[in-house]
Amino acid sequence: MVSKKKLGILLSGRGSNFEAIADSISAGRIADAVIAIVISNRAEAPGIESARKRGLPVLVVPSKGKERQAHDAEVAAILKEKQVDLICLAGYMRLLSSWFVQQFPNRILNIHPSLLPAFPGLDVHRQALEYGVKVSGCTVHFVDEHLDHGAIIVQKTVPVLDSDDEHALAARILQQEHIAYTEAINIVLEGNHEIVGRRVQSMGKTKLTAG
Ligand code: GAR
Repeated sequence: MVSKKKLGILLSGRGSNFEAIADSISAGRIADAVIAIVISNRAEAPGIESARKRGLPVLVVPSKGKERQAHDAEVAAILKEKQVDLICLAGYMRLLSSWFVQQFPNRILNIHPSLLPAFPGLDVHRQALEYGVKVSGCTVHFVDEHLDHGAIIVQKTVPVLDSDDEHALAARILQQEHIAYTEAINIVLEGNHEIVGRRVQSMGKTKLTAG
């Protein structure tokens, strides 16, 4: 029997992307994976409470006042001890040190609520509305040593409507985020892709989609 792939989830807040991943595993949309650990850098993150209610292993590793690499070393030690195969950043609002990224090459995914390389960083929806784009969306990418930068696995688009404010646009994009993260995890866990330069390309079986 093939052993299930172990996911480590890192979050800082609401945790809706974490919940979408957990729901996809429960429903079999992500097959042969388990969530081995959910880690938050904030004790009050609602996502942590949600993970507890689901009976998942949860740890809070507070980051406040800690030097970045010292905090990252604590988190990395837990992920290694849990033998995670893939780390999913799900609203983890903390920059990772280069050291951390190097510990898990091509094994860290992030989701960002824009069509990267547009609008990296914070206040993403405000940036999109102020710029006046007519289309926005979300991106799931491998994490490299630069912010919101690594090779792109899945992108989904949504229209930007004249009536949109930040809240409305964020809500429309979030629906797509939940779909995109499951697709990206499946692509990566299937292992049927190769990274050529910045391009994540199918080696045949998996169909990579942009929608
Ligand atoms: C999501 O919109 C995610 O794309 C964004 O934070 C939100 C977390 O929501 N992440 C980033 O901006 C990372 N650069 P969630 O806690 O409900 O998943």
